[in-house]
This record gives sequence, structure tokens and C-alpha cells, in this order.
Amino acid sequence: MDLFSNVEIERINFLRRELNRHNYLYYVQSEPEITDYQYDQLMKELQQLEKLHPEMADPNSPTLRVGNDINQNFVQVAHKYPMLSLGNTYNEADLIEFDQRIQRALGHQPKYICELKYDGASISLTYQHGQLVRAVTRGDGEKGDDVTANVRTIKSVPLQLPTADYPDFFEIRGEVLMPLAVFDKLNAERIANDDQPFANPRNAASGSLKMQKSAEVAKRNLDCWLYFLFADQLPTNSHLQNMNKCREWGFKVPTYTAECNSIADILKFIEYWDEERRNLPFDIDGIVIKVDDIRQQDELGYTAKSPRWAIAYKFKAEQVETELQSVSFQVGRTGTVTPVANLAPVHLAGTVVKRATLHNDDQIKLLDLHIGDIVQVEKGGEIIPKIVGVNTSKRSAQLRPVEFVTHCPECGTQLVRTEGEAAWVCPNADHCPPQIKGRIEHFVSRKAMNIETIGEETIDLLYKAGLVSNFADLYTLTIEQLLPLDRMAQKSAENIIKGIADSRKAPFEQVLFAIGIRYVGATVAKMLASAMGNITAIMNATVDQLTAIDEIGEKIATSVVSFFADAENCNLISRLQSYGLQFEMVKSEAKSNKLEGLSIIASGKLQRYSRDEIIKTIEAHGGRAVTSISKLTNYLIAGENIGPNKLAKAQQLGIPIISEEEFEKMIGE
Ligand code: IVH
Repeated sequence: MDLFSNVEIERINFLRRELNRHNYLYYVQSEPEITDYQYDQLMKELQQLEKLHPEMADPNSPTLRVGNDINQNFVQVAHKYPMLSLGNTYNEADLIEFDQRIQRALGHQPKYICELKYDGASISLTYQHGQLVRAVTRGDGEKGDDVTANVRTIKSVPLQLPTADYPDFFEIRGEVLMPLAVFDKLNAERIANDDQPFANPRNAASGSLKMQKSAEVAKRNLDCWLYFLFADQLPTNSHLQNMNKCREWGFKVPTYTAECNSIADILKFIEYWDEERRNLPFDIDGIVIKVDDIRQQDELGYTAKSPRWAIAYKFKAEQVETELQSVSFQVGRTGTVTPVANLAPVHLAGTVVKRATLHNDDQIKLLDLHIGDIVQVEKGGEIIPKIVGVNTSKRSAQLRPVEFVTHCPECGTQLVRTEGEAAWVCPNADHCPPQIKGRIEHFVSRKAMNIETIGEETIDLLYKAGLVSNFADLYTLTIEQLLPLDRMAQKSAENIIKGIADSRKAPFEQVLFAIGIRYVGATVAKMLASAMGNITAIMNATVDQLTAIDEIGEKIATSVVSFFADAENCNLISRLQSYGLQFEMVKSEAKSNKLEGLSIIASGKLQRYSRDEIIKTIEAHGGRAVTSISKLTNYLIAGENIGPNKLAKAQQLGIPIISEEEFEKMIGE
């Protein structure tokens, strides 16, 4: 190796150490020493050097925190130390009993450590020689899923520890969390995309950990707090001191901890956090109380499920009582009838609550709700308040049970309930006003056909005037038909017609979303469209063919198949086709056949092409754009920040690695 290379390799090692250190200062300590700009400069330099030295490939390099878009299958691995759960309690009496049991077993009062109980997804991290080698979910406690690639994207998880006195091999346990601010932003985006929002930050965190593409996980801004160390040789005999050690080594170990020498101290800690938790930037669902001394822990031992030396005190979700005044029934665009409880307004966890969802008929029966009941309302992890119980002692004899409507409150049709489903549905899809209007509202919405000149009010007018009874009818409207409508000026009529006409250009994936197949949100529509290419392929697809597509499961596939089994839906589609809407993915214009027969993969960040553009360019010249390397791949176009694993694989298979410039020479541009 020449001298120059040696200097570069030393620089790579130096930059990795520096970037890891600054990452730690920023994400764990919240005390950065350098500006974001300086950090980016160091990162860029490292990326460039790593490109020159593929032999230095390291999955723990700070350049790889961004993840990649290779689909992964999670492999199950056995935990070296089983991941147990904790005994739960909700009251003081149980805590006192826990303390007495321990005192009896040990013969004296131990020192306890009280910690917060983080409400996320538990994770076990394994380190060897200071390197993160594996991250595994709890699973069934015996074995979990290997989610290492995803966990590497969590910035507060150290990938390479600086030299210190940690054991050669250890496991550290903690919780992956989604901070509340990140959760709120993510859900707002999902709602805007018509994707199902996450019920709470815990679900969002565990859902994120199981995503197939680590590059997507990187965007979720997860955090990770650590609270337990396992090693054959622990640094000290105190849990608290071991955790302090872990903090020194570079882990994000919480400082919201207290040493307690009596049950009174423990109760004080609980009381404080029951209130103060509302000011934390993440969710906790209780307090964990642990015996501090490791030898005492060993003496107390374990039951089959949980340690005898620890217990979790769970907070009660905030609850209030109020009167159930009435129940309304709402009909959605898919015909589902949802009961909503109208409550006497009451303060709960910072807001005034007037309504609560009742989900479905089963829920009403389960609670045995009567109109006029005094009900208990709770705001748990979920955003919408729910009724969790009835104070039957306050029920007077004349109250009548809540009856689910038998007929649609909007069109009077008798409701139906499919076997195995909880929802009552109005089957009058073609003539029930809120269903018709709801489908048209969805059709014109931003992520669908994006007809900005039409809103809810216009749809109501058009529908009442008998001008539209489905979304295809929009394309038959004329200015003359609109003018007689209430408060309709010439200019607005023109705008509406123009908006509709322009929407013909909306790409296929938006049309596919707009037609309102149940469970097909904007994201799913995009995937379906690009996997199948055109509407005919989708209409003819079987459930098996559809579930073969990434992210499409049985429920979505069945819904797609049954949508197209309906003659009325097929009729609407063929009308839309006749009006000139887009029903296939636009293929880029063929430019040459210079790449005919060649499979080409592009990886890393390219200077002149976005991901879509490079794919289109390869295809426009007759080539095949592939997304994973195999021995059938002919070329790898290497961009900036290309993953060392990909580079190494290409080299191993002898696949020529070319630059963007070389690619452009090949296609003669
Ligand atoms: S200690 C053997 N400490 O709660 C040690 N667990 O119900 C067991 N959890 O699966 C874990 N915060 O995911 C511990 N400060 C904390 C915790 C905590 C949250 C979770 C953990 C565990 C579950 C037990």
C-alpha cells in the first residue's frame, strides 16, 4: 500500500471517531461542539474517502446512519439472556406488599432505584469490542427479530464506542421511543396522505422498527433510552453505578432516576412523576422500581416471567365522569355507520371533551350504555377520548339502553353487518347521500385528482341540483349547467370546469387513489400503480399476485379484487377512461436501444439524476433498471455515499463499477 493511501486510511479512522463523538455530543448529550455545517463537511470528506477505499467498508460507519432501501427479511434470533417482563401494579398496597416480600427474603430493607417506565418498543443491543453487532426486539422474550439495520439509523444509539473500560461482550437493554413532537408530525403527514394514522407513539415506534427499508426508518427520528446492562462480568455490584458506567461509555441513560430507601420515598417519586410526566417530550406509562444491589438481585431471583427484584407501577390514565347525553350515528364514504357519544362537556387532560368515539355496536353492548348514564371517560395513549365504563350506581331506573340504529340515518336503508365484521354498513352505496358526496369529495381531494376549484360546498350544490351522482359525472358538466346554481358567478363556473378538465392529466397513481378502493391510501396506490403498470393488470390481478407486492397484505388485496368484481365500479372506470383520464404509468419515451439487454443498478446519490430520473433514462435507452445486485447485473453506477456493502458485493461478483460520466458516454449524452 502506498504512503498516500495510508494517510487516507488514517484519516478515515480519525473522521469516523470524530463524527461518532460529535454525534454523541449532539444526540445524547445535547451539547454540540461544532456547527451543523462543520459536521456536514466532516461527513462529506469521510464519504469521499470511503468511496476511494471500499476495502474499509464498515457497517458501523457514521456515513451509513441514513440506512438503505434494500428490503430486508427479519431473522429471528435467540436472546442470550431472556427478555422478561415486569410484574405490574396499579396501587400502593401492592407496592407495600412487594417491599415486605423483599425485606422478608433479604432480612433487611434494600436500596431501591426508581426509574421511569418508557412506553415504546423494547430493544436489546449487543456490543462486541465496543462495536454494535446486533439489535433484537423483545419478540416472545426467548427470541426476537434482528432489526440491526434499522437500529443503526437511530442517532442516539452508539455504533462504535470510544475506548473505555467496558466488557468485551455485553448486552444493553432499553426502549426505542418516538418523541411526541415527531409522532405528531408523522401522523399529520399520514392523515394528509389518507394513510391510517398511528394510534399512539408506542405503536409508531414498534411499527417503525419493523419497516423493511432502513432508509425509511432513518426518517422517523426515533430515540433510544437504555436502562439495563447484562454482562458475564459486570463493572460494579450496583445497578445504578452500572448504568452510570453505561452513560460514560456513550449510551443515552436517563437521569430521571432516584435512590429510595423506603416505601415513602418511592411513593413520593411516583406522585411527582404522575403529574410531571405531562411535561416530558415522550410517553411514559409508569415507574419501575428495582433493587439496586446485583448480589441481592441474584438472591431474589426470577419467576418464569419476571424478576422478583423489580416491579412496575403503572399510572392510571386520567379519567373523569360525565353524562352521556345522546348518541349520534355518522355515515362515512364507505357506508360504515359509526356511533359517537355526545357528552356533557368536561375537562380532561388539558382539553374540554364533548364527544367520544364508541367504535361500534359491540362496544355499546359491552359497556351496556344507557342514555343519561354517568360514564367514565379516559384519554390514554390514544388521541380520541373513549368511554371506559359506566357508574351504574348513579343509574336511575327509567334510563333506556342505547339502541344501535337499524336503518341508515341518512337514507333510511336497512343496515347490514357482514359476518366477522364489527361494523354496521349502509348497503345503499349508490344512492345514500353522504356516501355519494363522500366519494366525490375524496375524488377531488389534493392527493387524489387535486381539483382545487371544487370543495365540499360545491359538491353539495351539484348533488342537490341532480347534476352529479358519482365522480364520473363531473366530466360531463358544462358552464351552462353550473350558472343557475346558488351564488355561482361566470368566473367560478369557468374555474370549476377548467379544474375538472386539467385533472385529466393527473398521473395514474393519483387516479387509482381517487377511485376510493377501501384500504388503498395514497401510498398503497403508488406502490400498486408502479408494480402493476396499468389498470387492466390491476383489474385482472388475483389476491396472490397482489400480496406479492411489497407492503400489500391480504386485507388490501381482497379489497382490490372485490372492488373490481363490482360491475358498477368497472362501469365508472370505463367512463373515466373515455373522458381521457390516465390509467397507466407513463413510460419514458424510447430514445435509443444502446442499453438493450443490460441490467443496470444505480446506487448512492447521483449528481445529475434523481432516483426516478435515472430509472427512466436507463429504460428510455432500452435497459433494465434493477434494484438489487446479482451476478446478472451488468453495471453498477456508483453515486456519492454508496453503501460499502453494495460496492463490496459488486467487486466480488466482478460487476463493472461506473461513474455517472461513464454512463452518459454509454448512452451518448
Ligand atoms: S427493566 C429484567 N426498566 O417495561 C429487567 N424495563 O413490563 C426488565 N420498560 O419489557 C426490564 N422502562 O420494555 C425496565 N426503566 C425500565 C423500563 C422498562 C420501560 C419496559 C421494558 C419491559 C417492560 C416490562
